[in-house]
Amino acid sequence: MKLVVANHKMNLTKEEVLSYVDSVKDFASNTVEFVFCPSTLYLPYFSSLPLGSQDVSYLKEGSLTGDVSAKQLKSMGVLYTLVGHSERRVKLHENPEMIQKKIENLLNEGIIPILCIGESIDEKEQGKVEEVLDRELAILSSFTKEEIASIVIAYEPMWAIGTGVLPTNQEIENRVRYIKEKVSSLYQVSIRVLYGGSVNIDNIDTLEKVSNMDGYLVGGASLDGPRFLSLMERMR
Ligand code: PGA
Repeated sequence: MKLVVANHKMNLTKEEVLSYVDSVKDFASNTVEFVFCPSTLYLPYFSSLPLGSQDVSYLKEGSLTGDVSAKQLKSMGVLYTLVGHSERRVKLHENPEMIQKKIENLLNEGIIPILCIGESIDEKEQGKVEEVLDRELAILSSFTKEEIASIVIAYEPMWAIGTGVLPTNQEIENRVRYIKEKVSSLYQVSIRVLYGGSVNIDNIDTLEKVSNMDGYLVGGASLDGPRFLSLMERMR
């Protein structure tokens, strides 16, 4: 079953969130597992739905104004958490050590980390995609096989996020295969790999032809409840 993750980022007001929840609350699917990652402050409004969060603190607990711990997320029923999103790596300078700590905190609480990886346009043009993926996958090296097996990877080329420009299906298939083979050869486990970056209702039928990926991370196209449900209904 595909995993579909809605990443609302820093969008929607309280009123918009209330009508959003109302529009998606009765959705059920036999073909996809779905999870909503709203802004942290709206988590309680989504409590009747499968819950995800967009981030977690790299500290376990205590004094860090503005942050939210894995334990707090767990207490709100969060099942999945995004870590290492490129927007945070670039704009907030999150480094691999912090991302590693976030994953560790999540695993300790039994929350499934979704580790986002992917190259910039410059790195792609310089032919460095595999080098970037290797470097970012090295974050997994401090975890046990069992832990790694529970982590989800989201392959999100930075140049495809919010741009409407997508890799070809062949490119996505190659990257997903590369990630799966790399993890399997390094750690002897198989993992789920999602694709993220400008997934929407107009390209979903094409993306659905990619044979080896395990789901999607959807940003902009998840912000309208009914349209997001239509998008998921097109997935098999
Ligand atoms: P997008 O965002 O679907 O708006 O491109 C995806 C993401 O950043 O997770």
